[in-house]
Amino acid sequence: MKNYSVAVVGATGAVGNEMIKVLEQRRFPVGKLTLLASERSAGKTLTFRGESLPVQVLGENSFTGVQIGLFSAGGSISEKFAPIAARAGCVVVDNTSAFRMAPDIPLVVPEVNPEAIAKYTTRGIIANPNCSTIQMVVALKPIHDTARIKRIVVSTYQAVSGTGKKAIEELTLQTRALMNDEPPVVKVYPHQIAFNCLPHIDVFLENGYTKEEMKMVNETKKIMNDPAIAVTATTVRVPVFYAHSESVNIETEKKITADEVRSLLATAPGVKVVDSPREKVYPLAIDAAGGDDTLVGRIREDESIPNGINMWIVADNIRKGAALNAVQIAEHLINGYL
Ligand code: A2P
Repeated sequence: MKNYSVAVVGATGAVGNEMIKVLEQRRFPVGKLTLLASERSAGKTLTFRGESLPVQVLGENSFTGVQIGLFSAGGSISEKFAPIAARAGCVVVDNTSAFRMAPDIPLVVPEVNPEAIAKYTTRGIIANPNCSTIQMVVALKPIHDTARIKRIVVSTYQAVSGTGKKAIEELTLQTRALMNDEPPVVKVYPHQIAFNCLPHIDVFLENGYTKEEMKMVNETKKIMNDPAIAVTATTVRVPVFYAHSESVNIETEKKITADEVRSLLATAPGVKVVDSPREKVYPLAIDAAGGDDTLVGRIREDESIPNGINMWIVADNIRKGAALNAVQIAEHLINGYL
């Protein structure tokens, strides 16, 4: 079997750590693994397949001989270094929002639009979508194919790990402080996140939405290859460590019943139907965390309109929402293109 030289950019971060883990767990054929981060991480080591590897400082020459680069070190790092890597012959799978909406860059969820990967040759970059968008389209694609979704109304309940390691630490420290009657230190988010919900993810835009909300709107249309789907989103940060939950309401062109949705999703790739409310069984963040499946439950007909469905969609934002989706894209690359 052919082996590939792989680099993880942002290897010391929450997503980068998980990328290393997923490469190992899925037995990705890695020949050489290069771990890249900032000067702050110089001298650190990380473990891959039981071997301790040094973290190197990201630089312009980091990509010589590297075939696949998994990037998760922030948008500005990708903007600068993804084209440098591509020029060196490395195919970049970029987890940031830097290139997602560029018309000549594929935006891929392997269960939904694997065929889009073919377009990577134009710029040598494939974009990994926003975490909340990924889990939603994995669950909605089979319904769209059957009944054509006209409109999506989504509200998210997003875990702090999506913001990175500092946010995971902030929730821990604030929780501990408040439980000990001490004042919480607020650094990462504009307000206290422990025991709170913040209807504010990423920056506010002119139209009153946040950038995170508009990512869900625009990326959904691009991945589903259907600009006609109307999407409106409210994205909320909640005091959960891992896994995003979403309340999703859809309106379809063709009538589809809750039972039909359940049976469609029962065979959908990457989806697990968890929907026995009488037994108190429905998707939970603590069950999705650490796993690969997108859990879907609370499937019911929206009685306020003729063709509507409500559901609750939960997935590990660091795995399916980021690292796992990126590695799955890399798997398609090596199986079909490299
Ligand atoms: P470092 O640990 O050296 O700061 P998270 O999303 O969990 O905060 O992680 C962000 C990741 O991006 C980390 O691996 C971080 O490395 C990396 N990173 C941030 N800034 C840079 C930079 N200027 N050059 C290279 N890597 C960076």
